[in-house]
Parts: sequence; C-alpha cells; structure tokens
Amino acid sequence: MKILVTGAGGMIGRKLVERLVADKTLGGKAITALTLVDVVDSPIPDGAPAAKSIVTDFSEKGVATTLISERPDVIFHLAAIVSGDAEANFEKGYKINFNGSWALFEAIRLEGDGYKPRFVFASTLAVYGPPFPDPIPDEFALTPSSSYGTQKAMTELMLADYSRKGYLDGVGVRLPTICIRPGKPNAAASSFFSGILREPLAGKPAPLPVGDDVRHWFASPRAAVGFFITAATIDTAALGVRRSMTMPGVSATVGEEIEALRKAAGDDAVKLIQRTEDPFVAKIVLGWAGRYAAELATRMGFKAEKNFDEIIRVYQEDEMGK
Ligand SMILES: NC(=O)c1ccc[n+]([C@@H]2O[C@H](COP(=O)([O-])OP(=O)(O)OC[C@H]3O[C@@H](n4cnc5c(N)ncnc54)[C@H](O)[C@@H]3O)[C@@H](O)[C@H]2O)c1
Repeated sequence: MKILVTGAGGMIGRKLVERLVADKTLGGKAITALTLVDVVDSPIPDGAPAAKSIVTDFSEKGVATTLISERPDVIFHLAAIVSGDAEANFEKGYKINFNGSWALFEAIRLEGDGYKPRFVFASTLAVYGPPFPDPIPDEFALTPSSSYGTQKAMTELMLADYSRKGYLDGVGVRLPTICIRPGKPNAAASSFFSGILREPLAGKPAPLPVGDDVRHWFASPRAAVGFFITAATIDTAALGVRRSMTMPGVSATVGEEIEALRKAAGDDAVKLIQRTEDPFVAKIVLGWAGRYAAELATRMGFKAEKNFDEIIRVYQEDEMGK
C-alpha cells in the first residue's frame, strides 16, 4: 500500500508518519511506500519503508498532478495554513486551503482508469459558526465565521461530491483543538489553549488572551493520529453522503484546564499564566463552540480522551518522557 501525506512536516503530520512507520501496516495491509510532502522538510523516521520527503508547495500549478501520478492508495491531506494566518492573509488562505485541495481532487479525478484512493481530509470545527445550540449536533449547518472555516467547509463539500461521484473515497475529520501542542506557539488563534499548559509545565510564563469561562473542545495529538488512522480504515459505506464528521473530544473551560494544570504541576505552575486580553484572538475564539455531540464519529469507532487530566498525562508521556 502506497501512502501520501501532505503537511507531513507539521505537528500532527510528523506524529502520524511516526505511527504509520511504527505500525508498518494500515488496515491490515503492509505499507510499501510513503511520500511526505511539505514546504518544510518532513523527517523520515528510522525503519520507514521506501520513503521520500518532497519539499514543495502542493498548491502550485502542476504539483498535485505529479503527486497523484504515483497513485497512492491512501492520501492524508493535512497541509493547510492555520486559522490566524488564513484570517490575516486572505489570498494565501484561499490558494492553499481551498484551491490546493481542489487541485488534489481534480488530479485524482483526471488520473482516472479505476483509480479511487481513500482521501482523509483534516478539517476543523471552524466550519461551524454562531449562534450555537449546546451541544452542536452532527446535523448542524456549516456557517463558518472565518476565512479558514470557510475554506475548510468548501473543501468538505467537494470531498463529499467527489466521493458521491465515485472519484475518491473521502473521509473528513473535524478535529477538536489539539492540545497540548508540543513545541512553540503557532499562528492558530487557538494556540494559547496549549500554551497555558505547555509553558508552565516547562517552568515558563504563558499569556492567556481570553477569560476563564471560555469553553472549548479538545483532544490530544495522540488522539488526533488515532482519528486519522481510523478514518483511513473505516467502512465508508456506513457514511453515505455525509463524509465529514465531528470528532469526539473533551469539553472544558479555560478555568477547568487551569485546574487540571494545578493537579498535575501545582500552584507555582498556575502562577505562570499571565492574563493579557487580546481582542483579535478573543473575537475568533468566541466564534467557536464548546460542546459537540459527535455521535456519528463515536459510532464509527473514533476515540478521544475522557478528561483534561488524561490530556495532560498524554503530553507528559509523549513529550516529557514521564
Ligand atoms: N492542531 C489543531 O488543533 C487542528 C485543529 C483543527 C484542524 N487542524 C488541521 O489539521 C491539519 C494539521 O494541523 P497541524 O496542527 O499539524 O498544523 P501544522 O501547521 O503544524 O502543519 C501543517 C503543515 O502544512 C504545511 N503546509 C502549509 N502550506 C503548505 C503548502 N502550500 N504546501 C505544502 N505544505 C504546506 C506546513 O508547512 C505545516 O508543516 C491542518 O490542516 C489543520 O488545519 C488542526
């Protein structure tokens, strides 16, 4: 089985590739080739099968056709610019998040000759916009309130249509906010949800741009990798035309996150959180909801953590060697 991963140099992409290489199989089939694509170099883990890391912008003319000409059996499409970047850079967001995804779909369609790969798309809860019911049911309308959410929602619609037409076998994975994100803060408006845990766990200060009562939906990077593996291997006949699903997660307020941090690392860690309001971030974040029913994905076997203590424990195990 040949696998293509776009965004393979990113936070989730790297972890997904590590898991694929460790597993050696996907859905019971041996992985024989891995193609990793990113604008930055994607690390190839030791023990990988025939693997190559291609440094390229997948949304540039002709690149999608070249990548798809190798006829990968499974495509994990994770490359995207994130919410804050897409909001600040309108044209760039549409070029990469929308046109780039469409170019991949078109390259697959034009490849033809019975080619019908499993296409796993990294979508987002930003496809939804307020006003929200609580919880948000699977049937809730897609009315995004950001450019990023709009670009992802449009890609979800195309994923469903290309699947309906039989050009590909698509599964869209609407990720919760992935927390605790390792490494440095990024341009995502949601970056602080991880920062207020990651930095204090390392003894460093962290800004908190919103109030303690902001509620959000979370899962760990380990759970995110599990979502993608599940998406690549489920029987899509059960999905019908609804190809994108809200993933299960942990609903928690910023205040509850902070209490989980207190339990894991004590009062001194909590004191490192610095309340500094940021209206730009607050405006984007308040356009998101805090609780989702995620019934379809749960029925299909997707699994997340049960509470924030577990999310912190995963970070300590996977990133801090505890
Ligand atoms: N992390 C989260 O909380 C979260 C939540 C919802 C959705 N998502 C989605 O999941 C996916 C992966 O997220 P992540 O957290 O690993 O993000 P990330 O920013 O760490 O990784 C994305 C990768 O895509 C690459 N990329 C961007 N534009 C590209 C281009 N034109 N050509 C090739 N590569 C390009 C980047 O260099 C980066 O390495 C993204 O599609 C993101 O929108 C993430």
